[in-house]
Amino acid sequence: MKILITGGAGFIGSAVIRHLLRDTDHSVVNVDALTYAGNLASLGEVSGDARYAFEHEDICNAEAMARVFATHRPDAVMHLAAESHVDRSIHGPADFLATNLVGTGVLLEAARAYWEGADESCRKSFRFHHVSTDEVYGDLEGPEGLFTESTPYAPSSPYSATKAGSDHLVRAWHRTFGLPVLVTNCSNNYGPYHFPEKLIPLMILNARAGKPLPVYGDGQQVRDWLYVEDHARALVRVLEAGRVGETYNIGGHNECTNLAVVETICDLLEELTYERPESVARYRDLITYVQDRPGHDLRYAIDAGKIEQELGWRPVETFESGLRKTVQWYLDNDDWVEGVTSGAYREWTARHYGDA
Ligand code: NAD
Ligand code: TYD
Repeated sequence: MKILITGGAGFIGSAVIRHLLRDTDHSVVNVDALTYAGNLASLGEVSGDARYAFEHEDICNAEAMARVFATHRPDAVMHLAAESHVDRSIHGPADFLATNLVGTGVLLEAARAYWEGADESCRKSFRFHHVSTDEVYGDLEGPEGLFTESTPYAPSSPYSATKAGSDHLVRAWHRTFGLPVLVTNCSNNYGPYHFPEKLIPLMILNARAGKPLPVYGDGQQVRDWLYVEDHARALVRVLEAGRVGETYNIGGHNECTNLAVVETICDLLEELTYERPESVARYRDLITYVQDRPGHDLRYAIDAGKIEQELGWRPVETFESGLRKTVQWYLDNDDWVEGVTSGAYREWTARHYGDA
């Protein structure tokens, strides 16, 4: 297949592209606007591959999207481009409304026009795979219960509300126009090339720099963590074998409180680094409780039984093995980290955390 991937310079999109070019025969057209979250450095190992092409475009631009479909004539779309950070959506929802809602609508219309004009065999095999989040389901109260594919939508933040809206658009394009869609909703990802405004890379980098580790509220919120390469494998499996019109939940079977995640990172750094910053006796001493996020979801947890039973996918990494690899990757990749922690990143941390 020739797969048009939106958001391929981001954290998960770049993992999908590396997986596709390394482990399959598919080719890739990466459509990315290169916002603060997009980094071509995450694609260094594949950018010279003859099966890879890059289009520097915004998915909100209808003319550009029509041109991209006409030029590349893809067999499938994997739609990952989005504004993805909950805290940024609280500071300023406008970009989330534009990319997640309008951009998804523009992309659907470009895909529909292309698909309606395609020949019979392409129309039959074409897929539009929308990559979404478990945050559309809102949160779970208490330690019991899991999100299934039929859990009602109840998003809490501007991020999750715009992702929920984009999911509805994709399903409407299937029901009304017959566009052959697939939808996946995944839990929190972590791993290499993760932009360091998100919990895990932020804590690794702050700890190494001897800066406070800002835990929101009491740190007892629970997330289900999935190693990004496991997610990439799941997405390709769904694209190749998922049933049209279906939704698949993807999760890591790794529920953990935020505080436990941060403490584990501290312990791994104690083990894996030779020296701490001078002022730091133990990395755990840097843990600092800060004001909670407004509307903070308490617990996310996924029932990933459907994708396992229908498509035979299970995560390979445990949280222990995946987190160890991740911490080691950040220790080994100063160049990538330096490249992304300049201008826009510093502005964000100064604005959101003050001096932290
Ligand atoms: P990310 O923020 O790291 O990357 C987003 C990418 O989209 C960037 O390369 C950015 O340049 C690009 N982009 C943003 N706006 C664009 C636009 N208007 N036009 C073209 N490109 C644009 O995000 P991520 O963490 O890789 O997430 C990818 C997708 O997976 C998102 O749709 C997100 O909702 C979903 N998801 C993320 C997680 C997670 O834990 N990170 C979990 C489940 C689902
Ligand atoms: P995040 O990585 O932003 O993902 P999401 O909000 O999509 O789950 O945050 C993960 C959890 O970590 C979430 O409960 C908020 C919390 N958190 C902190 O406690 N401190 C921080 O500085 C950040 C960025 C997140």
